[in-house]
Amino acid sequence: MTESLLKVENLRTHFRTDGGLVKAVDDVSFEVQQGETFALVGESGCGKSVTALSIMGLIPNPPGEIVSGKIELDGVDLTQLSFGEMRAIRGSKIAMIFQEPMTSLNPVLTIESQLSEALKIHTDLSKKAANDRALELINMVGIADARTRLKQYPHQLSGGQRQRVMIAMAMSCTPKLLIADEATTALDVTIQAQILDLMKDVTEQSGTALLIITHNLGIVARYANRVAVMYAGKLREVGEAVDMYTEPRHPYTVGLLRSVPRLDSEKGAPLAPIAGEIPDLTNLPGGCAFSPRCRWAVDRCFAENPLLEETSPGKKVACFEHASVGLNV
Ligand SMILES: Nc1ncnc2c1ncn2[C@@H]1O[C@H](COP(=O)(O)OP(=O)(O)OP(=O)(O)O)[C@@H](O)[C@H]1O
Ligand SMILES: [Mg+2]
Repeated sequence: MTESLLKVENLRTHFRTDGGLVKAVDDVSFEVQQGETFALVGESGCGKSVTALSIMGLIPNPPGEIVSGKIELDGVDLTQLSFGEMRAIRGSKIAMIFQEPMTSLNPVLTIESQLSEALKIHTDLSKKAANDRALELINMVGIADARTRLKQYPHQLSGGQRQRVMIAMAMSCTPKLLIADEATTALDVTIQAQILDLMKDVTEQSGTALLIITHNLGIVARYANRVAVMYAGKLREVGEAVDMYTEPRHPYTVGLLRSVPRLDSEKGAPLAPIAGEIPDLTNLPGGCAFSPRCRWAVDRCFAENPLLEETSPGKKVACFEHASVGLNV
């Protein structure tokens, strides 16, 4: 096994709100290996972005706080770093791409100035060298007519092109980890696939690990080596991507798989949304948070919270009934 690049251990990130304490990330542990593609999947509000923002050191405090746990990158615990130290790590060792690039791009600066600005902050390139590198990066992300595009402003580009620019910016300093938080959700399906292919290509070329965050388990099949499924602030199942598709062992993973179109499903197979609602994080039910929506639930599930435990090599599941759970049951 290759060495872990990122080690998240017992992370708890909570928010104090008027409605009560939101345990957005509640005792989450996972590792991302050097160069691997790891997917974090779950429905809206389950804590995916809060996990990503915790890694980036961007949790707004107040109302949020990392209340316990460690986030190690190359053996250094990021939760212990000062604001300045963390800022140096963002953009050089870890970069992040957000869902809507317009919010991350500056509307009044040309693409060239934004790219070279990012390069100047994190490297000691001269202006000329930074501009050359900007051109190289725009070519790398497959934007045609690169020289013209560099002189343009964000609104002159399509959504897909803007997302390509974001990838170029994120990769400009060859980070060790690239986090893509719903980076393709706003795009149409064909463009989504192109952008995911591109992220996979550029990260593979530079040995960068990729953390893909998405609510669509169907989309990550082709891209991720491993997948973690999150529900109400906790990881419920972690394993190899292939295994997750063929032999899911958590009822929530089964539900997610049945609710999205699959490349390998029979034509016309009906989709089945997960019954019930996402729980209110300020008022979680006792026991397993998924139990009110779970058709496998037994009495114990309503009283006790199952821990994420290894059920076979490389596979962890948090479910008392995992042995009887499956796609065809
Ligand atoms: N700044 C904040 N203040 C209060 N609560 C917050 C804040 N940011 C996130 N939360 C809460 O934390 C929980 C997890 O949110 P998060 O954004 O991580 O969800 P998500 O899994 O990324 O969902 P989505 O798929 O919709 O992006 C939610 O209940 C959300 O309301
Ligand atoms: Mg999110």
